[in-house]
Amino acid sequence: MSFWGNMFPAFWSLQVMLLAVLCVIATLVLCGRPRNLPPGPRGLPILGNVLSRMKDPWSYAKWSKKYGDVFTVYFGPKRIIVLHGYSVIREALVKKSKDFSSRPLNQAFLSPDGKTLGKKNIIYFKSLFIHNLCSPLGIVEEPYGPKWKEQRKFAVMSLRDFGLGKRSMEGKILEEARALGDEICKKDGRAFSISQMMQSAVSNVICSIVFGRRYEYDDTTFKDLLESIDRIVYQLFLAGTDKTSTTLRWALLYMILHPDIQEKVQQEIDSVLGPNQEPSMEHRSQMPYTEATLTEVNRLAAVTPLTVQHATSSDTTLRGYNIPKGTAVEIVLLSVHHDPQLWPEPYKFDPTRFINDAGRYVKREEVIPFSIGRRGCLGEQLARMEIFLIFTSLLQRFTFKLPGGAPKPSEEGIPGPLHQPVPFMLVAEPRK
Ligand code: HEM
Repeated sequence: MSFWGNMFPAFWSLQVMLLAVLCVIATLVLCGRPRNLPPGPRGLPILGNVLSRMKDPWSYAKWSKKYGDVFTVYFGPKRIIVLHGYSVIREALVKKSKDFSSRPLNQAFLSPDGKTLGKKNIIYFKSLFIHNLCSPLGIVEEPYGPKWKEQRKFAVMSLRDFGLGKRSMEGKILEEARALGDEICKKDGRAFSISQMMQSAVSNVICSIVFGRRYEYDDTTFKDLLESIDRIVYQLFLAGTDKTSTTLRWALLYMILHPDIQEKVQQEIDSVLGPNQEPSMEHRSQMPYTEATLTEVNRLAAVTPLTVQHATSSDTTLRGYNIPKGTAVEIVLLSVHHDPQLWPEPYKFDPTRFINDAGRYVKREEVIPFSIGRRGCLGEQLARMEIFLIFTSLLQRFTFKLPGGAPKPSEEGIPGPLHQPVPFMLVAEPRK
């Protein structure tokens, strides 16, 4: 027989074998599928729905239109139940909080790389101290149970010991806001990007809380510290500084795009604080327009489009569907913040959504950038303080503008787990 004649049977038997393997996998997946799961889009064998999700960041919104507020998707063999919209998210995270407060076991895990640290050991150990204090490696990824409860209690107590909720904490944030203002002054009317400065300012707040001192933005120890922390714990900083500084960057972007709104905030600052008095959290209740503006930043910017992935801690039910113990649960906060049923013209930046006829601030429970329920953000109070005090101090000192002739930056942002604004330049004009 010829060479090709010899090869064909082998070729076909290989194909038959592959087909058989695929059939077995598909059967196992289908048979292993528990009964009465929420419906969901049909996926590819083995890959599930991962390609559609990668291709289109808005796929969840599209699927929710077809399958409802609770649906099932597969990323490879991993089954994920997606919760879309305020009412079902509240039902799961608040009413059935115990069932929906765990984390999937296969969450990405970063481990400290001791070998590469060399002489930066002191920084390393200080970083580990923060890590043990409120490390997301422990708290964020820990499944629901006694260990997580212990870690969370310890982290909350430690943050309180460091002064959270006390005037001393305000002093630390205000010191940083002043330093940031001084740095901005050095730009002397030139166009600049505030991204790095804002990141340093917010990181410095954590440093002065934990290490008892702040660092100059170009200090090499500070840079080393940030680098080490980046390597050992990015998640702590991701949990804290990234989201806080990104929110502040969005706030300034909206101010340069909406100068009329910036002017109204400044009028309120002037009438409550005047030019010299520093803001304090006590002023918040007297500043409804500023409060409404920051709430609108949280809503529209949607810095956290998704929470950290949850998982069920026991077999449970939701909206009549069965969800087995240990199933990953994706909570789409974006679906709440941009829901046209809740917010007419959802993509319009409009702080007056949160102001009533009497000019008072109206809290809306559907703004949930820090998530809700037992796994809600541990740093919410600190983040809210930083955002209010830094934003107010900056607008008291400067008017932010687009550089002359520069095109308007897009308000759409860059899709991702941390929804960042597109890079933009601004000009800071000192106020008289
Ligand atoms: C604007 C700033 C911030 C936003 C928008 C934000 C948002 C969030 C969100 C959405 C979650 C996930 C909640 C869930 O899974 O349901 C979370 C968790 C967490 N955040 Fe924040 N966060 C911010 C700042 C901070 C800060 C400053 C800290 C640290 C002091 C912090 C520490 C944590 C921790 C430790 C968790 C995990 C809680 C747990 O699993 O029990 N966050 N945050």
